[in-house]
Amino acid sequence: MNDIIMTTGEADNKQRQKAGESYSGNKTDIAGQEQKKTMLSHAPDAHNATNKDDPEKMKPRMPEGDIAHPLAAWFENVKRDLPWRRTKDAYRIWVSEIMLQQTTISAVIGYYERFLTALPTLKDLAACPDDRLLKLWEGLGYYSRVRNMKKAAIQLVEQGLDNLPADHKALLDMPGVGAYTAGAIGSLAFGLRYPAVDGNVLRVMTRLTASYADNLKPAVKSYYEKEMKSLLDGCPDVDSGVFNEAIMELGETVCLPHGEVLCEECPLKHLCLTKAQGLQSELPVRVIKTKRRIEKKTIFLWEHEGRFAVRKRPETGLLSGLYEFPNTEGHLTEEAAVDFVEKMGGSVIAAERLKAGKHLFSHIEWQMIGYRVHVSKRPTGEDLCWATREEIFGKYAVPGAFDTYRKLIPDDKQRIGSGTD
Ligand code: ADE
Repeated sequence: MNDIIMTTGEADNKQRQKAGESYSGNKTDIAGQEQKKTMLSHAPDAHNATNKDDPEKMKPRMPEGDIAHPLAAWFENVKRDLPWRRTKDAYRIWVSEIMLQQTTISAVIGYYERFLTALPTLKDLAACPDDRLLKLWEGLGYYSRVRNMKKAAIQLVEQGLDNLPADHKALLDMPGVGAYTAGAIGSLAFGLRYPAVDGNVLRVMTRLTASYADNLKPAVKSYYEKEMKSLLDGCPDVDSGVFNEAIMELGETVCLPHGEVLCEECPLKHLCLTKAQGLQSELPVRVIKTKRRIEKKTIFLWEHEGRFAVRKRPETGLLSGLYEFPNTEGHLTEEAAVDFVEKMGGSVIAAERLKAGKHLFSHIEWQMIGYRVHVSKRPTGEDLCWATREEIFGKYAVPGAFDTYRKLIPDDKQRIGSGTD
């Protein structure tokens, strides 16, 4: 069953009507200086509010006025000094853009530097063994991102390239690169005039237009992509990379979600239809359909002579190729946990229940309990590696889903039977 969660704004009929009324009511008040070239040219025949449920028909009017120039001027003054903004190298920009998907800027910075120190060129990435690559990505999650990067790097190197192509279609052909990433890399590295519409940019656009359409519908994103493409084409004097990064910056630092929006700092506040109508806390609307399957698991920290058991997950499926602690389906009692180890040929000295953990994947929720089990004889299993704490942190790529338990691996002083308590 799908749960429908309205994450922002309760878009009931009354509110939609309210938006519709004040939308048309404010239209003439908001008109800025007429600069046809940098205005969006759309002349909608359908109304934002009444077409909420049909994004194909939803054609929200853009505010009338220059968007690109005030935005670019503002960005030049306020832009943050981020590592990937100090380069025009498409490979480096690609790495940053892929890392920034689903991960915050502050979390990405360290990974970005480390990844590029280890793999400074496209060729290095293409030749990197999977285990090493996954270790470099460990903790960022969504590992298919880095697997696709390696696939793309191999393809490009096979085509005789030593960097990414300066062509929008060719960028789109790379595994893992969609309209957003191709737009971002193309504009930032090569000045190609394509928009880069991510969630933050979409929020800015739906707020500028005071649209009640569901922001999570692909058709809504496509609509704004087309509009922004015409906007970019209409202002050739504004650098497309500056434009794209400026609007990302606006979404990340000013046009924040929910009621946190900082309208007074916005370079487009005089144009914004949402601000004019006071709808900031209602927009954008995002209808989230959650459908996560619950999986209960028991995770084991098996300890023998200062080493802990880990094993490689299968090469396909969830978290493929990464390392995990031995685990089994269901929540075992302590007695069953000890039985489990003994059935695998282990001899248990002591078992201790660990705290519960939870991890959310897009479609699955792991609800975990754990046991730390000290054994005098190791359980057998071809796939088990017995690793030191140092190796588990430094050598094996263990995904964040197991962090609750990895953090509990004792250092030397805390180890069972070490003579200290
Ligand atoms: N988010 C994604 N790409 C970005 C960039 N280049 N600058 C700031 N935020 C971003």
